[in-house]
Amino acid sequence: MNNDGSAINIDKDDEAHFSSDLGFILTAAGSAIGLANIWKFPYMAYAYGGLTLILPYLFFMVFLAIPLFIAETAIGASAQAGPSTAFFLLGNRPRISRFFGRMTVLTGFLISSFYSVVTGWILGYAIESIFTGFQAPTCLHAQSLWHEKLHNPLWNVGYHTIFALSCLFILQKGVKQGLEKLSRIGMPIFFICVAILCAWTSTLDGFSKALTYITSFQPIKDGSELLILVAIGHAFFTLSVGQGTLVTYGSYMKKTSTIFSSTLIIALADTLISLLSTLILLSTVFSDPSAGSELTSGPSLLFETLPTFFTHMHGGRFIAPLFFLLVFLAAITSQLSALEPMIHFLEREKNKTRKKATTLVVALSWLIGVLAAISISIPGSISLNGESLFGFLSFTTTSLMLPLGALAASIIFIQAYRAKKLIDETNRPLFHSLPRWVRSYLLWSLKLAPISITFVFLSVTGIFTLLFS
Ligand code: PHE
Repeated sequence: MNNDGSAINIDKDDEAHFSSDLGFILTAAGSAIGLANIWKFPYMAYAYGGLTLILPYLFFMVFLAIPLFIAETAIGASAQAGPSTAFFLLGNRPRISRFFGRMTVLTGFLISSFYSVVTGWILGYAIESIFTGFQAPTCLHAQSLWHEKLHNPLWNVGYHTIFALSCLFILQKGVKQGLEKLSRIGMPIFFICVAILCAWTSTLDGFSKALTYITSFQPIKDGSELLILVAIGHAFFTLSVGQGTLVTYGSYMKKTSTIFSSTLIIALADTLISLLSTLILLSTVFSDPSAGSELTSGPSLLFETLPTFFTHMHGGRFIAPLFFLLVFLAAITSQLSALEPMIHFLEREKNKTRKKATTLVVALSWLIGVLAAISISIPGSISLNGESLFGFLSFTTTSLMLPLGALAASIIFIQAYRAKKLIDETNRPLFHSLPRWVRSYLLWSLKLAPISITFVFLSVTGIFTLLFS
């Protein structure tokens, strides 16, 4: 045993690491690929005119979100610690850095509370599509069914609770046996479901129209927000940056030089899934314009528009459960990754056992979720700042806390890189084996990141409008 007693933790430490690079790739891909890819992106790509959105989105992925994704993973791997300790060890101003590290942990935790409510809806639809199928001949039918469910607190809170319990069960098993195992089984099933749905989609009448739509510049149909903000915000959310997840997952990785290639694979897979989901959803919707519905935003796309199409289409009875299973698998792996940083924090910094930490974190996230669910089920019941608690949580975390966390990560990465604190297992600077131009790309993107993030921040908080109107 070492003098510092570290050998005592060998078993615990071993369990708290991914078993291989593939384990990391699948688990982190599980985090990145989520509701944002399958639900949000297709609608955004439609509303903001196909390539008109996709091109700037890809630009910000390459020059902003992917470098941040790599930076956060590298910070965690190099420090072998979650955001709070890693930022403390690597930043120039340890205490301020630690504050931001802790804030990212809180961001993930708060996101998990309403993400769970939404996944509860998916779970409800998945189960109902298996047992009863959808009987929604028109969008109006689907709409009234959906509203009936949404405004039923028992349905809303019930599925949220079942989902929270499943997360508790998996998380208690630990990193390797819980998180990694689920992703090793779930992600291949997910990719198979996507492939089956793509094959099915290619037989639909709307396929070529959908393909043309996403590969050409279309006019913006319904752009309530600035295109650049939408593209940047989505790039961050979809890659799970700024919310403690990647630093924590990085700390479960060995500090090898494969960080760069592993993270790149995940980012590519995430982008591919967003594009394929768009193709699947648009082809489905474009195939049956007679159902009397346009593609609409938010919940209505998944819970009103699609059930109508599934009712009409040949094979819809089988495709619907497959589709909702796919969305559910994507969501559960993302949800676990949002909860994990807080669990890791309580385990490592507050000396709680894994069991206690998971129970506490899941229970609290569930409770906030219950309030968020009620705030939607019974409009006006729980509101903050004139908005439902659900809306308030979603805006504060994704539009304010998340960019701030990403900003902190980019600054700390640059500080640590300059101070040569980012090292791999051979004690050489991390990324030393990468070609020079790749390192320059990474460093320059991260040096410029604070400028674009500040722009996002000033825009969403309305400070820009105040200054320039
Ligand atoms: N990246 C996930 C998605 O695309 C979202 C997410 C992950 C949210 C991790 C919180 C934490 O849906």
